[in-house]
Amino acid sequence: MSKTVVAVLAALAVAGAAASPPVRDDLTPADRERVTKVTAATRDFSQAEQFEAMSAGAATTRKLINADIFSQPSANLTFEGRQQFLVGNGLFRKDWVSSPSSTQASDGLGPLFNARSCQACHTKDGRGTVPGFDPMERSDAVALLLRLAVPPSTDEHRRLLASGELPFVPEPVYGSQLQNFAVPGLPAEGRMEIEYEPVVVELNGGETATLMKPAYRIENPGYGPLRPDVQISARLAPPMIGLGLLEAIHPADILANAAADHGDGVSGRPNWVRDVRTGERVLGRFNWKASQPTVEQQSAVAFSNDMGLSTPLFTSHYGECRPGQEACFKMPHGAQPRLGEHEVPGELMDFVTMYSLNLAVPQRRDIDDKRVLAGKRLFYEANCVACHVPKYVTSRDAKRPEHRFQLIWPYTDLLLHDMGEGLADGVSEDLASGSEWRTPPLWGIGLTRTVNPNATWLHDGRARTLLEAILWHGGEAQAARDRVVAMTPQERADLIRFLESL
Ligand code: HEC
Ligand code: HEC
Repeated sequence: MSKTVVAVLAALAVAGAAASPPVRDDLTPADRERVTKVTAATRDFSQAEQFEAMSAGAATTRKLINADIFSQPSANLTFEGRQQFLVGNGLFRKDWVSSPSSTQASDGLGPLFNARSCQACHTKDGRGTVPGFDPMERSDAVALLLRLAVPPSTDEHRRLLASGELPFVPEPVYGSQLQNFAVPGLPAEGRMEIEYEPVVVELNGGETATLMKPAYRIENPGYGPLRPDVQISARLAPPMIGLGLLEAIHPADILANAAADHGDGVSGRPNWVRDVRTGERVLGRFNWKASQPTVEQQSAVAFSNDMGLSTPLFTSHYGECRPGQEACFKMPHGAQPRLGEHEVPGELMDFVTMYSLNLAVPQRRDIDDKRVLAGKRLFYEANCVACHVPKYVTSRDAKRPEHRFQLIWPYTDLLLHDMGEGLADGVSEDLASGSEWRTPPLWGIGLTRTVNPNATWLHDGRARTLLEAILWHGGEAQAARDRVVAMTPQERADLIRFLESL
């Protein structure tokens, strides 16, 4: 066959795949039927469902609930897997230092960086902390990143965006992210300032809630003024639990939710993002805009952009030093010929990935409680489940054995939704628009403050309570949000009770 004929056939196959409903290729027809049955939405709210307590199937942790509950390994890991998890845990917690240093295996931090360790942002493997909502409190945010983008202005920009080589156009000097720290002798990129404006919302039953609307500013820019048209998007470090299972959800199940038309104004879209190994565009699943396809790639991005450390996937020892930041390239780096080409050798990177894939989701609490069941019914009736899709059975051919063929309850569709003006950041990332966000999983959300007493919710941590998080929902979720506003105080309390049991 000639090359052109092959190309035409391939194009037809892609067009055909888009038109026909995607089908799981990892299951026999009999298995497929079983899976459809167990993942069907429940209609019985008089009692808990079978297996409902085990949010992450056999990987669910049943450890005692305390501040370490997000730091447990998948319960079904092998002995060898547990050993690898422990090494990964050490690396996730380890503080990296700048070069040159006497502890050569730990240096290479920066030159520009946001934090010294993964755990500095993902507090106890949960979500990070936003500096105080108190305007008098002036601490430097660590776990909150500022993405920096500018509108495309050249044909080259437009080509790179269309091909997926760039997710957005970075600020020309400062790059795609503000690094608010630098090694000694180098200026940091700047300091972020957040100001909150209170917005009062009246609820049925005489209650009110006060939402805090953030605005971001960059003070003390270290490399000259930022472009006046720079767009800033703040992102809070999300919790790390259950990520391997999210990676093991079969793409056909995600795309089926995107294709489904429920006639309720909710229409999720997949993000298609770059796999840096193959250069191909693949389904995005991770981060607040589903901008990364795998836990491994996101972890390598974190080493590079957040800590300035090279890995086999992102090989620059200078992290996000940019052409307009010449002094940055003159700083020493931490690669040692003795220890390999990269500041974080592939072997260590693999331990970190393995760890990040296997932080366990805790078992549910109080699933039979009357109030929890009433709240669960309201969660379904208010159509929260259109986006926060309750359950899946993971792929039989998932990469790691502990993630295969598990009935899981993550409460997400991993798709992008237009969430309205109130949450919009104006920054598009790959195919995600400036008002679209990926539905975050809700498993474990009731234990957020058990793990980090100062944690808050939503992409920029603006919501101080679960109710505030719901009240920010707009766009495709406006109707669901309005139903919560119209509930009686008892009903709202039940809905929150259900979320707290997750
Ligand atoms: C400076 C703070 C910071 C540091 C340090 C950091 N992260 Fe993150 N992490 C974030 C933020 C913020 C996001 C969300 C980014 C986005 O939405 O674009 C994130 C997202 C992630 C995700 C995706 C989670 C999800 O639910 O989608 C993974 C995995 C992850 N980080 C792993 C790591 C690893 C591994 C390290 C250390 C090598 C690390 N992170 C270091 C802030 C940080
Ligand atoms: C149209 C899709 C959609 C619907 C419907 C929806 N959500 Fe969400 N939900 C999202 C998205 C997207 C976010 C993240 C928004 C952000 O961070 O800016 C979110 C965030 C949340 C969060 C905060 C999660 C976190 O990790 O910070 C909670 C809690 C939540 N939703 C609960 C609900 C409840 C309860 C309902 C029903 C009343 C509901 N949602 C309906 C899409 C939806």
